[in-house]
Amino acid sequence: MIVCVIGLGQIGFPVAKYIATKGYDVYGFDINPDAVNQGIQNGKFKATTQWDQIPKAEVYIICVTTSQVNNQADLTSVFDTVKKIATTADTNTLVTIESTILPGTSKKIFEEMFKRNILLVHAPHRYWADQEDKYGVNQVRVIGGVNTESLNAGIKFYKDKLGIPMHTVSTVEIAEMCKIIENSHRYLQIAFAEDLKMMCDNIDMDFDELREAMNTKWNVDLPEARDGIGRHCLPKDIRYVTSLTPSILLSSAMDVDNKYREWLTKQKDS
Ligand SMILES: NC(=O)c1ccc[n+]([C@@H]2O[C@H](COP(=O)([O-])OP(=O)(O)OC[C@H]3O[C@@H](n4cnc5c(N)ncnc54)[C@H](O)[C@@H]3O)[C@@H](O)[C@H]2O)c1
Repeated sequence: MIVCVIGLGQIGFPVAKYIATKGYDVYGFDINPDAVNQGIQNGKFKATTQWDQIPKAEVYIICVTTSQVNNQADLTSVFDTVKKIATTADTNTLVTIESTILPGTSKKIFEEMFKRNILLVHAPHRYWADQEDKYGVNQVRVIGGVNTESLNAGIKFYKDKLGIPMHTVSTVEIAEMCKIIENSHRYLQIAFAEDLKMMCDNIDMDFDELREAMNTKWNVDLPEARDGIGRHCLPKDIRYVTSLTPSILLSSAMDVDNKYREWLTKQKDS
């Protein structure tokens, strides 16, 4: 079976490597030559920046960048990738979008770009590079399909062929929403920790000791408050949600994070 992984960054590289270790014929594609070289040298799979060197695959996995511009999702790379796949794929080809996208994107791609002549699922990632053995490619993941045939093909691929435990949802929109809401949930937890740390400072209380005490309760798991809510995914995904629908709570959490960063700067300066 030929599998093509498109986008060989933090997500696509381990995905392609994992599938290659399962004995499948993996071709990686990326527009960045460094990502391609890393795939060839460290991933031990074939990789190229030339789309015409990729043979027709049975499965295409989309792991390209998704970002935001002016608080709106920018999914240009996903759409560019789909245009390439559409030139070779047919009704039996499975396309799986692993990049984080907005609810409605998979259906739009299925109907408008593939004209329904494809099998399409969304299987977003929960990848955590700091603990790859536990939270890497093979961990419980959510999967939704644009129709039953697609979902069945997706489950067969992930569960049966790759041995990844998948949690099935009834619509692809639930899978799309699940990813960005999971990250928004985490954002809220961290924002609460940041808020609490500033509150503790106001009343001259030791935040770390308070947190440690709280976390002895069975249903409390308050994270640390560090340098502001960083990395790529959490700040992006919460804004994907608020670009869809207003939320007082999520907007307040983003305000808290901004205030916390200002507070930290003042603390360092004083
Ligand atoms: N990194 C994580 O821990 C993580 C976790 C969960 C979800 N995600 C999501 O996974 C997706 C990929 O994230 P990442 O961290 O791997 O990003 P990344 O920036 O590390 O890698 C993306 C890769 O896609 C390539 N690319 C961009 N446009 C392309 C195109 N048109 N054609 C081919 N290749 C293209 C880039 O050159 C890059 O190598 C994003 O949607 C992200 O939100 C990431």
